[in-house]
Amino acid sequence: MGGHPRPRAGVAFFWPLDYPCGEMEAELAARAIQRLRSGHLFGCRVVYLPQVGSTQDVARQEAVAGAPEGTVVLADEQTAGRGRFGRSWVSPPGRSVHLTLVLRPDAARLRTLGIIAPVAVARAVEALADLRPAIKWPNDVVVNQRKLAGVLIESEAVGNQVAFALLGIGVNVNLEVAAHPEIAGLATSLLSELGREVSRELLLLLLLQELEELYLATPPGAAAYQEWRRRLVTLGREVRVSFGDRVEEGLAEDTDANGDLILRRPDGSRLAVSAGDVTLRT
Ligand code: BTN
Repeated sequence: MGGHPRPRAGVAFFWPLDYPCGEMEAELAARAIQRLRSGHLFGCRVVYLPQVGSTQDVARQEAVAGAPEGTVVLADEQTAGRGRFGRSWVSPPGRSVHLTLVLRPDAARLRTLGIIAPVAVARAVEALADLRPAIKWPNDVVVNQRKLAGVLIESEAVGNQVAFALLGIGVNVNLEVAAHPEIAGLATSLLSELGREVSRELLLLLLLQELEELYLATPPGAAAYQEWRRRLVTLGREVRVSFGDRVEEGLAEDTDANGDLILRRPDGSRLAVSAGDVTLRT
């Protein structure tokens, strides 16, 4: 990465507000938040769109057009929000935090994104609410066994160099889960857990702060790995892991420093899985 130049304030910034207010208040809130992030990397530039297909696609266009590292693409609503394995991500207006960060990591830092992102979400949630979020391998943030937040990482290489990475994070903040039968029973939100609404702006600010701290830590990922592992609900459980067209079952015995899951198969052999979808069987 070669050191991060500190961006100057004064770049494009538009902000969604969670409450009805006049233009003057919106302007003041935008300036206040911009000020809080000025001099920082993550949030040095915020592209806000009231409605978008997926923030990943807008962030890709931004990255290709040369957006600086730390650019945040934020949407109030996604009409085609997507998750891992081609699943969709429920993103109705006015309810949640949907963002994609444009990053330009080296290969070592790219490998840490899946570890730092859920840890940063868990820390941000803990700072706002009396909840103890856990992580389902590799990077689902869960509360009471239901999914609160998801992470989607897409990257582009030129030769053997990382050109950019897109770190997409969706956090169900004030989502009324029961209104979405496709996720009811599987997902939760801060509203569901706490019985009250939570400020999306505050959660976003905390999230950007935690993410930046973990991303810039040296050596890459070291500050997050132990915490990620401690929060994993997957370890010690019998699991089924699907990856590609394979399905493996066994004991989720351990993880390695890359975040791979070490599975002990029924025949006693060990298998390292770097990406997949886990179902807990016990
Ligand atoms: C998953 O758990 O499968 C990943 C979900 C990622 C959702 C976020 S919301 C912001 C960004 N834009 C998208 O379309 N997806 C990610």
